[in-house]
Amino acid sequence: MTKRRIAVLTGAGVSAESGLGTYRDNGGLWDSYDPMEVASVEGWMRNPGLVLDFYNMQRDKLRTVSPNEAHRLIASLEEDFIVDVITQNVDNLHEKAGSTHVVHLHGEVTKVRPENCCNDEDGFSEKYVFDIGYDKVCLGDKGANGAQLRPHIVFFGEAVPKMERAIDIVSRADIVLIVGTSLQVYPAAGLYRYASAGTPIYIIDPSDVPLYDPRVRHIRKVATEGMKEFVGIIK
Ligand code: OAD
Repeated sequence: MTKRRIAVLTGAGVSAESGLGTYRDNGGLWDSYDPMEVASVEGWMRNPGLVLDFYNMQRDKLRTVSPNEAHRLIASLEEDFIVDVITQNVDNLHEKAGSTHVVHLHGEVTKVRPENCCNDEDGFSEKYVFDIGYDKVCLGDKGANGAQLRPHIVFFGEAVPKMERAIDIVSRADIVLIVGTSLQVYPAAGLYRYASAGTPIYIIDPSDVPLYDPRVRHIRKVATEGMKEFVGIIK
């Protein structure tokens, strides 16, 4: 029998139980930092040092945390399904838990690239992107083209290069699973709309989520508990 396809869209909530803060919950990252200062194109142009410091801090925090049971259960779905994870998270916890197909919609904090490395041929210029692990990046650190290194993050105000790939994944899915995202940030928030008619959509989130679609079943639990319930439903 051919395996069914699951598209899993995750947000900060899936990593919350690993100890990484979410963005918009009470006490979330955007309570302490203005995203327009630390995570936007304009912020980068105004004060690149501040942006580098913010992502140096994220990298340093990521060094200290591990995947949780929700990441592991998502990875284990690969035993029975074709699983594509589309994550808005810039952490590497899905990969560390064993997921083998992960699309990072908003970039990866453990990678950097030089400024001005885009061209018509490869748009994002993946060839300039490299792994920096958990190291710091400072003003004056340069890439292969001689330009300042920047986080490999999709800043507010930038296009989302992996969106087409994500749309293709969702439109071919037999099941869509959404875990731990407030669905406030577009275009990621609109991805579920590409699911074909009749495709069941599960949402795992302890809070209300602004998604009004008759196909949706809301599992109102934290990610680790919700994933156990989801696995029980679909296996
Ligand atoms: P948000 O902080 O906006 O939303 C986090 C969601 O996780 C909320 O719906 C919470 O209810 C839920 N949540 C909290 N704890 C949870 C838990 N233990 N288990 C499951 N869910 C839990 O984060 P995102 O939706 O991921 O982009 O934010 C989207 C984007 O906004 C991020 O990728 C980031 C941010 O600005 C960039 O920086 C480009």
